[in-house]
Amino acid sequence: MVTVPPDIAGAAERLRAGGIVAFPTETVYGLGADALREDAVARVFALKRRPINNPLIVHVCDETMARSCASAWPHPASRLASAFWPGPLSIVVPKAPHIPAIVTAGGSTVALRCPDHPVALALIAAFGGPIVGPSANPSGFISPTTAAHVRDAFSPDDVLVLDGGPCRTGIESTVVAIEHGCARILRPGVIGADAIAATLDGAPVITGEESAAIARSPGLIGPHYAPRARVILFNDDTWPTVAAEVRTRLDSPSLIILSRSPRTPPPGAIIIPMPKSAGDYARHLYAALRKADALNPSVIAVELPARDELNANQQDHAVWTAVLDRLTRAAKDPDDPVHPDHRA
Ligand code: TXA
Ligand code: MG
Repeated sequence: MVTVPPDIAGAAERLRAGGIVAFPTETVYGLGADALREDAVARVFALKRRPINNPLIVHVCDETMARSCASAWPHPASRLASAFWPGPLSIVVPKAPHIPAIVTAGGSTVALRCPDHPVALALIAAFGGPIVGPSANPSGFISPTTAAHVRDAFSPDDVLVLDGGPCRTGIESTVVAIEHGCARILRPGVIGADAIAATLDGAPVITGEESAAIARSPGLIGPHYAPRARVILFNDDTWPTVAAEVRTRLDSPSLIILSRSPRTPPPGAIIIPMPKSAGDYARHLYAALRKADALNPSVIAVELPARDELNANQQDHAVWTAVLDRLTRAAKDPDDPVHPDHRA
């Protein structure tokens, strides 16, 4: 197969004209626009149908460009940028006055990220300035990890898609706010609290889904990352109960199981096998959820890792924490009688 190299110069030109370019990153595809142009950013919100109170991440190609978007660049931000950029970490700092209010949803802070993908870095460098990059999906739906996922959602008239192949991390960046010299994780990602604390010489890192964090990162409110089907979570211990409840409480459910272990599907159910390792699981999760959703089931049952796997090592712990965060959101439905609570 002949692969066509992405037309970076043409894409940068499109951005200069106020257009929208979807670009690959190591996490998920982003919907790019000139971060300093209010009309272009407004188009991103409109295309995604994103609530205007949910701020966007600004993508930069190096720390110098990041500093130009910030009115302060505290020491911890500098340490984190040196340690993890380019990479899947978005750092929230006070915004520079010239960043339009629409980008930050009227807030005084801006999330900055330098993505670890050659196409993204080349695009930002060719454009010569920061670009916004929310995940390239309609608001509330599953993030895209291939160019085809993006093309499924947006018309080529609206969005030029740069194809950089499948994303290798597969879930969105860690979002960390720097405030009063402390780091607060607003969205878990593959860069975990332990790695961040180690970089900050063991300074306290605030984690968890406290209401304060939710209030500060509006994109984390409520169900998110969700397919259309009802999502339920299970592990080996809870599977018999969950399977029985699905059968008794729903009218002839069509069931798809994202399974990490070999198991016999109940009659009529389809199994999509999932990888065992944390990194591979994260990389394939969104594509698997999309594949399941496309089959239009009434229920998607997702097998969670066993408790001892969650803490196998620091890196696996970070990845599983981020995966469980996304899955818990996908499964969130307060009216759902079969939804087991796995948050404990
Ligand atoms: O990996 C990623 O971060 C991807 C790729 C494309 O870079 N982008 C991404 O963007 O996931 P988005 O818009 O789908 O998610 C951004 C998250 C939202 O939860 C939003 O509320 C939060 O970051 N956020 C953005 N700016 C913020 C700010 N100033 N303060 C707090 N949270 C912020
Ligand atoms: Mg998103």
